[in-house]
Amino acid sequence: MFPKWFDKWNRDNPRDLYGPAILVGVAGGAVVVAAGLVSFGQPFATESMQTGPRGTGMHVTRFQSAVNTPDPTIAEYFTMAAVPPLDDAERAGDVIEGAEPLLADLSVENYERLIEAMRVWTGIPDLLTPGEENYQTVVARSMIQMTQELNEGWGAHTNNNPDSGNVGVNCYTCHRGEQVPNNVWFKLGPVNANAAGWSANQNRATVQSQFTALPSDALEKYLLENNPINVHDLDARVPRDMANPATIQDTYRTYSLMNYFSNSLAVNCVFCHNSRAFYDPSQNTPQWANASLGILMVQEINNDWLVPITDVFPEHRLGPVFGDVAKVACATCHQGYQQPLEGMDMISDWPELATTGEPVYATAD
Ligand code: HEC
Ligand code: HEC
Ligand code: HEC
Repeated sequence: MFPKWFDKWNRDNPRDLYGPAILVGVAGGAVVVAAGLVSFGQPFATESMQTGPRGTGMHVTRFQSAVNTPDPTIAEYFTMAAVPPLDDAERAGDVIEGAEPLLADLSVENYERLIEAMRVWTGIPDLLTPGEENYQTVVARSMIQMTQELNEGWGAHTNNNPDSGNVGVNCYTCHRGEQVPNNVWFKLGPVNANAAGWSANQNRATVQSQFTALPSDALEKYLLENNPINVHDLDARVPRDMANPATIQDTYRTYSLMNYFSNSLAVNCVFCHNSRAFYDPSQNTPQWANASLGILMVQEINNDWLVPITDVFPEHRLGPVFGDVAKVACATCHQGYQQPLEGMDMISDWPELATTGEPVYATAD
C-alpha cells in the first residue's frame, strides 16, 4: 500500500504510522470533496415549493438541477408575431385558390403565417396545401377547431394563472414538431382473458401504468369513460353496495391515475391534496380544482374530438389491440412540467387559434 522506502523506514522506527497516515489521507480527501462542493455546488441540492399551510408538511421537493433545466422543446418553438390586418386587407379566401375554408377570412399574411406555423409545429411540411384533400387535411380541420375550443371554452384550465398572463395552447403544446404527439395512449386488453370480474390489467410494464404494477386501464376508465374516481370511506371494512361500489381494485386504479397525474406534472401528491386527508375537498389545494377541470377537459378532447374521427386515420395510426384512435391525457400537454412548456405564452402571437369567433389582434399603440 505504501512505497517500499516508507515500509522500511517504518520497520526501523517502530511506531504506528499507518493510523495517522490513513487519517491524513481521509482528511485530505474530505478537503478535496468540500472544495469541489464549494466551487461547483451540490449536485443533489433540492428546493421545495410550499403548497399548503405551514406545519402541514405540504411541500413539493424537487432537484434544483431539474428545476433549472428548461424544457428542451422551448428552444425549438417556432413563432412569429401576428400582423393586425388593415381594414381593406385582402382575405385569403379571395386571393388563394383552394384556401382552407376554416381560415378563409384571415388576411393573406396571417393565413400564410398560420399555415407555415402549423406545418412546423406538426412536422408535416405539406399540411393544408391549397386544394389538396387527404386525411391529414380532415384531421387538421378538426384540430384547429379543437384548439380554439381548448383556449376559449377551457380557458379556466389552460389560461387561468393571473401571474403568468397568457399561456393557453396551440398545436405545438401537443405536437412539438411531431406528426403523432408524444404521450398519446391506446386501450389495452386484459393480460388474462379468463380472470373474469377483475380487469386483469395489472402487473404489466406499460406507459398507461407508468411502468408500475398498478392497473393499466386507469386512463381508459377515467379519462375516456367517466367512472367515479373517489374510493375513500372513513369507516373500515365498509360492505360493498350501491352506495359504496368501490372495490380494492378500484382503489388501485385510482392510485394508478394519481401516480400518472404526478408524473405528468413532475409533482407529488401534496401539490393537489393534503395527504392526511385525500378524501377531504376542503383541504385540497387550488391545483386540485385545476386538475378536476383537466379531467373533464381530457374527457371532452377524447370523446368529442378524437373518437369521432377514428375512421379518418389510416390503420397504422390506430391502436394495436382495439384499432382505437390515439388519445390524449395530462402528459400529452404537460410532458413532465407543472405547466406545459413551463407556462410559455402560446396565444399572443396566435389569436387565430384562441377563439372560435373572429380573432382579436392586438393593435399597436
Ligand atoms: C390536445 C392535444 C393536441 C393539440 C392541441 C393538437 N393536436 Fe393534432 N393530434 C393530436 C392527437 C392525439 C393526434 C392523433 C395522432 C395520430 O394518431 O395521428 C393528432 C393528429 C394530428 C394530425 C394527423 C397526423 C397524422 O399524420 O396522423 C394532424 C394533421 C394534426 N393533428 C394537426 C394539428 C394541428 C394543425 C393542430 C393545431 C391547430 C393540432 N393538431 C393540435 C393531439 C393534438
Ligand atoms: C394534479 C393534481 C393531483 C395530484 C398530483 C394527485 N391527485 Fe389525487 N386527486 C386529484 C383529483 C382532482 C381528484 C378527484 C377526482 C374526482 O373525483 O373527480 C383526486 C382524487 C384522489 C383520491 C380519491 C379521494 C376520495 O375521496 O376517494 C385519492 C385517494 C387520491 N386522489 C390520492 C392521490 C395520491 C396518493 C396522489 C400522489 C401519488 C395524488 N392523489 C396526486 C388530483 C390530484
Ligand atoms: C390541452 C393541454 C392540457 C391538457 C391535456 C392538460 N392540461 Fe393541465 N394545464 C394546461 C395549461 C396550458 C396549463 C397552464 C395554465 C396557466 O398557467 O394559465 C395547465 C395547468 C395545470 C395545472 C395548474 C398548474 C399550476 O402551476 O398551478 C394543473 C394542476 C393541471 N394543469 C393539471 C392537469 C391534469 C391533472 C391533467 C389531466 C387530467 C391536465 N392538466 C391536462 C394544459 C393542459
